[in-house]
Amino acid sequence: MNVLMISPGFPKEMRFFTQGLAAEGATVFGLGDQPRENLPPEAAGALSAYVQVSFGDDAAIVEQVARLAQRTPIHRVECLWEPYVILAARIRERLGLPGLTVDQTIPFRDKEVMKRVLDAAGIRTPHHYSATTAAGVVEAAEAIGYPVIVKPIAGAGSESTYKVYSRDQLDSILPQLRSVTEVSVEEFVEGDDMTFDTLCVDGRVQHYNISTYIPRALVMKENEWISPITLVYRDPDLPELAAGREMGFQVLKALGFQTGYTHMEWYRTRDGEAVFGEIGARSPGAGLVDLINYSSDIDTYRGWAECVVQGRFTQPVERRYNAAWIYKRARGQGRIRRYEGLEAILTEFGPHIVDLDLNPIGAPRRDWRQVLVGDGLVVVRHPDLATTRRMAEHIAAHLHIVAG
Ligand SMILES: Nc1ncnc2c1ncn2[C@@H]1O[C@H](COP(=O)(O)OP(=O)(O)OP(=O)(O)O)[C@@H](O)[C@H]1O
Ligand SMILES: [Mg+2]
Repeated sequence: MNVLMISPGFPKEMRFFTQGLAAEGATVFGLGDQPRENLPPEAAGALSAYVQVSFGDDAAIVEQVARLAQRTPIHRVECLWEPYVILAARIRERLGLPGLTVDQTIPFRDKEVMKRVLDAAGIRTPHHYSATTAAGVVEAAEAIGYPVIVKPIAGAGSESTYKVYSRDQLDSILPQLRSVTEVSVEEFVEGDDMTFDTLCVDGRVQHYNISTYIPRALVMKENEWISPITLVYRDPDLPELAAGREMGFQVLKALGFQTGYTHMEWYRTRDGEAVFGEIGARSPGAGLVDLINYSSDIDTYRGWAECVVQGRFTQPVERRYNAAWIYKRARGQGRIRRYEGLEAILTEFGPHIVDLDLNPIGAPRRDWRQVLVGDGLVVVRHPDLATTRRMAEHIAAHLHIVAG
């Protein structure tokens, strides 16, 4: 099978998916905007050919690929990097290939269309409107009632996302939204940020995962002092996760997802209700794939590739651990001077730490807004949920990276 992988080397996880395709026996062609020599070795080594493009003009890229496909047939087009999933669908349509069409992909990209389709399927979404003008945003916010969330319809990384408590505050953020052509205005849902992530073949879920962001994504984005945590549940079948899990299955069905990785976010309210957040027809970012892998000692990079290439997922899954990463943001500016609390943490939790990667002493501190992992990552895992959470929260509170 010849697979065209879009953006095979960026972001960081893509190299492993690309590698997985080759390991599953596919001949992999890459298409991306990185110069070939800048591709990470794992990706470069897996590719039989690579075309460098500059993204932007989809029609031109589609025709370029169509010309290449006349010489060497392409059987699948894959893309796990959100900005180009529509391009992938366009190429599929042009070449008459299986997989999501453009119309099927739009509901995964456009948060308003997404919620409209799900509303029609009876799924609980936040009360929402879309708006293209400042007056429209105000009108929507007043109709919903404060607090509201205002966010771009195709946003990522909580960029330009605001929790707004009042008309005055709305007036003060409206100028910052001028560059956004369409926004979603939503009821603010009180609760926890949760995920539901799957590997599917022809619409059938082969593997699923549930995790939570501690604290909520928007809070960690607004407060530098916070060390964000993502925690994968060992047991996604816990009764308190049932509402979200069921919603996840319904959402995939309502949107007609077929084969590959999906990443859904949902909110769990205090009384256990699940409210839909968003879904991508792609793998989760920010190191969550690694946590999913750590929780069951599986390899879902390769597993995704097996779904795509072989149409099955055969890795034995024994859910052994809850797994959590903690990202650290240095205190102070300049270069990393020292770590505080590291020895105590290693002594106390050593056997449960499976990854530790701190920005080295002497290196410039990183911009946590640009680099999600900030100045360091710690990954812990443990069979017991409460113990895992306690370890993660302890590391978040007691490990410090000091710059100066
Ligand atoms: N209706 C809502 N109620 C409460 N919180 C919300 C709501 N919408 C968004 N948020 C908060 O803002 C965060 C970012 O919103 P959302 O996930 O829609 O955007 P995104 O930028 O695509 O996210 P990502 O960081 O996953 O790429 C959510 O994880 C959640 O913390
Ligand atoms: Mg999100």
